[in-house]
Amino acid sequence: MSLLIKNIKELLQVRESHISVVKGKDMRVLPSIKNAYLLIEHDTIVDYGSMDDIQNLEADKIIDASGKIVLPTWCDSHTHIVYAGNREQEFVDRINGLSYEDIANRGGGILNSAEKLQNTTEEDLYQQSAKRLKNVIKLGTGAIEIKSGYGLTLEAELKMLRVIKRLKKEFPVKVRATLLAAHAVPKAYKNNKTAFVDLVVNKMIPEVANEKLANYIDVFCEKGYFDLEDTERILKTGREHGLIPKIHVNQFNAFGGVGMGVKYQALSVDHLEQMDQEDIEVLKNSDTMPVALPSCSYFLSIPYTPGRQLIDAGLPLALATDYNPGSTPSGNMNFVVSTACIKMKMTPEEAINAATINGAYAMGISNMYGSITKGKKANLIITKEIPSYAFMPYAFGENHIEQVIINGLIY
Ligand code: NIG
Ligand code: FE
Repeated sequence: MSLLIKNIKELLQVRESHISVVKGKDMRVLPSIKNAYLLIEHDTIVDYGSMDDIQNLEADKIIDASGKIVLPTWCDSHTHIVYAGNREQEFVDRINGLSYEDIANRGGGILNSAEKLQNTTEEDLYQQSAKRLKNVIKLGTGAIEIKSGYGLTLEAELKMLRVIKRLKKEFPVKVRATLLAAHAVPKAYKNNKTAFVDLVVNKMIPEVANEKLANYIDVFCEKGYFDLEDTERILKTGREHGLIPKIHVNQFNAFGGVGMGVKYQALSVDHLEQMDQEDIEVLKNSDTMPVALPSCSYFLSIPYTPGRQLIDAGLPLALATDYNPGSTPSGNMNFVVSTACIKMKMTPEEAINAATINGAYAMGISNMYGSITKGKKANLIITKEIPSYAFMPYAFGENHIEQVIINGLIY
């Protein structure tokens, strides 16, 4: 099966195969071909170039993309899409004056979602999650990381991870799984957090690694959740079991979590709404990807990650949704890209790089996803007819996507 896309107004993010990450000033450059064609065989990009050089290429199916832009699908490197029910009551409570912290302190928040999930069957949890995944694919996401963390017991965490495994099997998009057992201290361990960390380290990590249910280990390193000592124990044990760290840090407080992530060679450190100079310095000497989650900042009305400062310091940056029921009930990467431009002062080129190639890096899959490169998976967004690619983040809140192609097939 071959598919030829012709007359593409502009083909974005065309890269040589050795490029796996884009940093600093290079993020301002989005290599592209105007008036382009793209040839797909089965699920793979095999050729592309200018329409002037198309010669007499043939294919089983041809799409005319006149006036349309083609780019790689979004790589959403941070989500919690496997959850049960929603938390719109907490949303209303916040409108009426409670803070996210107040809600968590009275047993809402993550503990509320954990209780719901523990009382939901695996089948129901799968159905709810599959619906979300289907929706985000239609919004242009072609690779996604999904975390556990609303189980908080061994049994419920395994249930979440099995649901992620089934999503991986049933959907054509690339799925990466993360064990986030240390997401909050469960009610039963309220006065004995160390015993819960013991459970994570001695039972959950070995069992999950043994069943090969996760690629990554995560922890919510934050005041009132897990401190540096807990974080270190969890990351160290995770690594010993082959799970690579990808962590929640600096959402509300900066106290060295970024350095701890780097010490254990975290693939990414995510959130970073609060950053100090030391955090930036430590990232400079690492291969760790900083990840910003602007929809979370938007929804909770908290500061945005200082992405401008990170990029200007020569660092790379990835953008992801954080799709979850509490802080970000949205998996729309188009909104993330817009919000990064509007609120974080990222240029459209920087935001698109951050949401494609750098997102792929933050999932360890940039060898196969995140750019238009011969040999990579044919996961593509074809836009509607729009004046330029900057129009996508500019005309925010509107759907500019006409078609999504996953593994060479129209989704
Ligand atoms: O990434 N910060 C920690 N975890 C999630 C939100 C969890 C929740 O409120 O359910 C996040 O924002
Ligand atoms: Fe998160």
